[in-house]
Formats: sequence, C-alpha cells, structure tokens
Amino acid sequence: MPVAVADPAQRPRILVLPGDGIGPEIIAAARELLDALASFDYEERPIGGTSIDELGTPLADDVLAECRRSDAVLLGAVGGPKWDSTDPDAPRPEGGLLGLRKGLGLYANLRPVKPLPALIDSSPLRRERISGTDLLVVRELTGGIYFGHKERRDGTARDECVYSTAEIDRIARVGFEAARSRSGRLTSVDKANVLETSRLWREVVSEVAADYGDVELDHLLVDNAAMQLVSEPARFDVILTDNLFGDILSDEAAMLTGSLGMLPSASLGEGGPGVFEPVHGSAPDIAGRGAANPLATFLSAAMMLRHGLDLEDDAARIEAAVEAALGSGLRTADLHSGREGERLVGTAEMTAAVIEAL
Ligand code: IPM
Ligand code: MG
Repeated sequence: MPVAVADPAQRPRILVLPGDGIGPEIIAAARELLDALASFDYEERPIGGTSIDELGTPLADDVLAECRRSDAVLLGAVGGPKWDSTDPDAPRPEGGLLGLRKGLGLYANLRPVKPLPALIDSSPLRRERISGTDLLVVRELTGGIYFGHKERRDGTARDECVYSTAEIDRIARVGFEAARSRSGRLTSVDKANVLETSRLWREVVSEVAADYGDVELDHLLVDNAAMQLVSEPARFDVILTDNLFGDILSDEAAMLTGSLGMLPSASLGEGGPGVFEPVHGSAPDIAGRGAANPLATFLSAAMMLRHGLDLEDDAARIEAAVEAALGSGLRTADLHSGREGERLVGTAEMTAAVIEAL
C-alpha cells in the first residue's frame, strides 16, 4: 500500500515515542539495535501517561505535527495503573495512541503472526496445532466502535459503531493486496448475524473481491474465528477484520508465537509516515527491572525499515538476528519455559545478543 518512503539522499528522521511502563526500556534497546545497522536522526517526544504528567494531555498537538514531519514513528507502549480511571472526563494514556492513529490517518494495521522455530514449544498450544501457522491480521484502525460517539448519561453508557462503505472498501483492498502477495487466501471476519456494520462489511468485502479473482475469500463470524484460531491456526492466511475484532483476535493469535512479547505491528495510511509498535502493552508490573522482552519492538523496527523506509535488506537482517539469538537459547522471562538449552536473560543481554548476530 502507498506509504511515505524516505528520501534516500537524507538520513531518515525517526520520531520516537517511548511512552509508559516498559516503553522507554524497549525503545532504548531498539535504538541501540538501529544504530548498529545504520545512521538515523531521532527526535524523542512524550505520549500517553508520561505526556499527561508533563503536558496535561496524552498527545500534544505539536507532537502530532512532528510525527507528520518525520519519515516514520517508532512507539513503545502506553498506559498504566497510575492513569487508570473510569471517569469519562479524565485524560487516558490510550487516547494518545488513538489520537495518533486517527491524526495520521493510519487506517491499516498489519500484525503478522508466525511462530519462530525456536519458540514452537513456548506456545501454550501443542506443536502439532501451531506448526505451519503463518498468518497476517489486517485490522481496520481508524473506525468502528473505537471512534464512534461515546456517552455516559443518567446511568446509561453508549458506544456507537459506525463504518462507511468507503472505509471498508479501502481496508479490504489492503487485505486483498496482502493476500495476493502471500498464499492468496483471505478470511474476512465479522459478526454479520447480529451487527448491521458487519452486514455492510460483508457486502463491501464481497464486492471488492470481484477485483481480486485470484484471491480465495471466505467469511467467518468472529466467535467461530476465535475458536478456529486455536483449533486450526494454519488454515488462515490473511485475516481481514474491523477495529475491535482485530484488537481481540490479534492478542489471541499472538499466543501462537509463544508470547505477546513477540508480536510486531505496522500502522499505515495514505502517503504519510507510518507508526510501528509492538502489539503488547506497557507491562507496568515489570517496568524498570530490565526484564522486558525487546523482540516485538525489534521486529516492529524491522517492519519500519521495510514498510516505512524502504530498507528491506536491513529489515531482513534484524529478523534473522532475532531468530539467531533465540536459536542460541536466550529467553526473556515471558518466553522462558525452563527447558534444557534455554538461558534466562534480561533486556540488555537479549539486545546485545541480537546486535552481535547482526
Ligand atoms: C492495541 C492496544 C490498543 C488498542 C489500546 C492500548 C488502546 O490494545 O494496539 O492492540 O486497543 O488498539
Ligand atoms: Mg490490543
């Protein structure tokens, strides 16, 4: 899909948003890794809870403006108990992330799920179940119930879910293009037996399918998809779905890889810079202890090099180095199963091993 590609004559400008919890640790590790590869210009700005504390808002206007001027945005994670509140008027860290996605028009979220051979026994699912899994979740990211009208009044709350034909059409095309470049199968996931937005989703996806005769399309209801993701994950190639279902299914799919700590993502729009971030959260329980798994952030940096900066070779080098570090038995706590040949390490040691393997 069309994204901004950095001018090769200039050093790419990466806007770094470390965020909260383990965010700063994993982002520092990713910068070390990127510096070992090539020269980049970095600017660092607050987002999420850190930004609420510093600036009173989870995403300042000038930070969003700087994101627009950069070639790519690398984000850590946002959120934490300090800012958790059910008060509808309190600023929330997540608002920063949602504002960034909406503000940059990043309607397409790509979450590849491919268990690495070294981790096949780290998944809670049996090896036979997950073997052969290689799927991509294409999640619509700027519409649906996340961005509909919200209201709390007189003891009643509502969240509106809205999708237009145009919004469904453009994300469907991202899904079909992705399927075309992979195994040519696309599963569209909705809840068309209950939701009107899902019925429109199904109609529009079926219409777009006419332009992609080479892609095999099927429709699955989201509850059934959730079940099949654990019973038969290898049946999936591209999963195309809306904002909320994509959020839930991608966490579920992440466990196929052994840990949520392994899953990268790219959020792309039309022409502007993309945002690249690990799928996991800010893990406040382990923040500041040097124990965080930096690999999802490294793999997100690889997606940034590939999709945002057109540096495919460097992206592939990072991915190979991550595999090599895992292959040598190193495991952060989230991946550690205590099997023979594994060695428990922290963020710094894992980072050093990946850089060494570059
Ligand atoms: C994700 C996260 C976010 C989302 C939260 C932090 C708002 O769970 O990127 O999957 O729900 O989109
Ligand atoms: Mg999520």
